[in-house]
Amino acid sequence: AIDPNFEQNREKVDQHNGHDVWGPVDEPESLGIHGTHVAVDFDICLADGACLEDCPVDVFEWVETPGHPESEMKADPANESQCIDCMLCVDVCPVDAIDVDGS
Ligand code: SF4
Ligand code: F3S
Ligand code: ZN
Repeated sequence: AIDPNFEQNREKVDQHNGHDVWGPVDEPESLGIHGTHVAVDFDICLADGACLEDCPVDVFEWVETPGHPESEMKADPANESQCIDCMLCVDVCPVDAIDVDGS
């Protein structure tokens, strides 16, 4: 599961689609965590898609991640500022790849 204390335990190494990326990143095998308020551990996400289907405000967008061992698409929190903290995505992700502040 995603580390809920990633902000203490990792470092910001990049920006992507307007959000922070938390390392370590070593593409294509290691992609880190994308987002801060809505954070997705790209190394855990296996492209289930429930978060994209269920988010009422369309926070997530698919991004291509060719060569990653878990899946070659990831749910990117492209619109994390729109999040209304409903926690649906946290509840539906089968591999606990998502952390939303307040959860
Ligand atoms: Fe969307 Fe709710 Fe998850 Fe926020 S907590 S990203 S609003 S599903
Ligand atoms: Fe990935 Fe979990 Fe969403 S596996 S696509 S973060 S439901
Ligand atoms: Zn991203």
